Amino acid sequence: MRARKADFAARVVAWQQAHGRNDLPWQNTRDPYRVWLSEIMLQQTQVVTVRGYFDRFLARFPDVQALATASLDDVLGLWSGLGYYSRARNLHRCAQQIMALHQGVFPQTSEVLETLPGIGRSTAAAIASLCFGERVAILDANVKRVVTRVLGFDADLAQAAHVRALWDAATGLLPAGKSAKADMPRYTQGMMDLGATVCVPAKPACDVCPVRVDCVAGAAGDPQRYPVRTRALKRSSQSIWLLWAQTAQGDVWLDKRPTPGVWAGLYCLPLFASEDALRQAVPSHLHNLLQAVPVFTHVLTHKDLHLHAWCLLLADSSLQWASGRWVSADAWPDVGLPAPIRKLLQSSTTD
Ligand code: ADE
Repeated sequence: MRARKADFAARVVAWQQAHGRNDLPWQNTRDPYRVWLSEIMLQQTQVVTVRGYFDRFLARFPDVQALATASLDDVLGLWSGLGYYSRARNLHRCAQQIMALHQGVFPQTSEVLETLPGIGRSTAAAIASLCFGERVAILDANVKRVVTRVLGFDADLAQAAHVRALWDAATGLLPAGKSAKADMPRYTQGMMDLGATVCVPAKPACDVCPVRVDCVAGAAGDPQRYPVRTRALKRSSQSIWLLWAQTAQGDVWLDKRPTPGVWAGLYCLPLFASEDALRQAVPSHLHNLLQAVPVFTHVLTHKDLHLHAWCLLLADSSLQWASGRWVSADAWPDVGLPAPIRKLLQSSTTD
C-alpha cells in the first residue's frame, strides 16, 4: 500500500509534465501575487474567462502594493463581469493586510496564508505548494473528485467529519521523500489538471488516466458514483447553559439526561435553557460565587451547540438539588458523560 501511494504521486508528476497545462498566464512563475490572484479568479470562473481578466488586472495592479493602495471602486471596476464580488473585496482587504501586517511580503506558509481574507485551506495550500514547495494537499471540487475516485472514498461529504477524513487521505497521497519539495508544484498542478481534463464529472477519460492502476472506482467501473454528497443538512444552532457545581474535594453534581433528547441517558451537568433559569436554580446568597466559563461550541450532526457553563465552587456537598447527585472526583471520570462535558470537567483537573 505504501509503495503504491508513492507511485501515485510520481505518476501524477510525470503526467503533468507531459500532458498537463503548462502555459497558462499564471504558470512558470513562483510569484505568489500572481498565483494568488489566479487562484482567487479561478475559484468560480473558467480558465478561458479568467485569462483576459488576469492580464488586465496585472497590467493595472502589477504588485500587492499597487493593489493595496488602489480604491475599492477601481478594483471592483476591473472585476466587473467576473461575478462573486466578495472575492474582489477580500482581494483588496488581503492586499492591505499584507502591507500592514507582513511588510508587503506574501507569507510563505499555508498556515499563515490561511489567516488572510478570502484565502481558505485549499487556496492557501495551492499558493504554498505551487510557489514554495510546501507539502500540503489542496482539495477543491476537482481534486475531491480525483481523490474520492482513486480511493473509493464513499463517505458522505455533506458531513464535516468525512470531509476532514478526506483531507487526511489527500495528505497521505502527497509526494514523499527527498524530492518532495521539488515535486510539490507539479504535483499540485497535476491534481488540478487531472480533475479538469481527465477525471471530469460525467464521462471521465479513464483510458488515458495516469493513475488508473491505483484507482478503486476505475477498477470497479463506477467513477460517476463519486464523490458521494447528499443534500447538505440544514443546520441550526442552540445555546444551552450548564451549572458546573463542584466541591472543594472535587465532587461534581451530575444528573442523568432524560430520554429522548440531547445526550439521552448520559450523566451531565444540569442543563438550562437560559442564564436566568440557571440562576434560579442557585440560592441567591451564592450568586456571587458563580463564575462564567468562556463559551464553547460543540458541533453535532444537525446543529451547533453553544455551551455557556457557569462554575459554582462550594466548600462542601451540603447543598443538594431535586434531581441528580454528587459524584466524587475519582468516580466521575468513569461515568458516561457527553464528550464536551468530559472535556470541560477535565479542563479543571489539567490546569
Ligand atoms: N483552477 C484552480 N487553480 C488552477 C490552476 N492553477 N490552473 C488551472 N486551473 C485551476
